[in-house]
Amino acid sequence: MYKILRKQTLNEQVKLMEIEAPLIAKKAKAGQFIILRVHENGERIPLTISDYDAAKGTITIIFQEVGKTTMLLGTLEEGDSLQDFVGPLGKASHFPEDIKKAAIIGGGLGTAIAYPQAKELHRLGVEVTSIAGFRNKDLVLLEKELHEVSDKVIITTDDGSNGNKGFVTDALKNEIESGENFDLVIAIGPLIMMKFVSQLTKQYGIKTIVSMNSIMIDGTGMCGGCRVTVAGETKFACVDGPDFDGHEVDFDQAMRRQGMYKEPESEACNLFKG
Ligand code: FES
Repeated sequence: MYKILRKQTLNEQVKLMEIEAPLIAKKAKAGQFIILRVHENGERIPLTISDYDAAKGTITIIFQEVGKTTMLLGTLEEGDSLQDFVGPLGKASHFPEDIKKAAIIGGGLGTAIAYPQAKELHRLGVEVTSIAGFRNKDLVLLEKELHEVSDKVIITTDDGSNGNKGFVTDALKNEIESGENFDLVIAIGPLIMMKFVSQLTKQYGIKTIVSMNSIMIDGTGMCGGCRVTVAGETKFACVDGPDFDGHEVDFDQAMRRQGMYKEPESEACNLFKG
């Protein structure tokens, strides 16, 4: 059993939990994920490792209550335990050695996954610009933490409620056109956002890494649930990723696959809410 040591509400839909998992914390690296089950008969859900502390033996996860299992997870409190917590899974992010300046783009909850990447690049001495986009100012996440690991932080909101209206793609384009020579862009968030960021950076020839948040079941390359087409080849996000070259991912296919379970998912949510 894996104990919840800390629980924090980040906004009305998003919660953070620090879980006691010393063996995973010892091995975890930026870009990897865990699969958890809340209880014995529960669904397995993948969540990216948002932070880890090998000395304390803890893994931090951040999740949005969008489905039955994440809603159930959100009802647990400090001192409660999770049935299963498996990881670290997936390949750790691999950054080319000659990177000097990187833009890290987070869309909504994707910011929680982008944060460890920004932290790692900052640790490696890379100049980091973090750009994070949210629907409105009440949903902004990890702004303080991003400032701690970035040379520049730009927060955009769709409705302009924080005074900076626009999408992350607008902000990235502005930065590039005002002379920022990024060697690398990392984009993490909704598929549609990663698609448009990748289309933009392709025009400027900037290497772009995206993190694919596919449907996962076993997390070991056996079930095929997380398959994604990259450069015309089938890849499994759980073992070949989750990071892939954004210029090579078939986002349209990934979006079709992601929508396949919308109906049963919303039925399960409605049943859970009663
Ligand atoms: Fe089953 Fe990746 S989750 S193959």
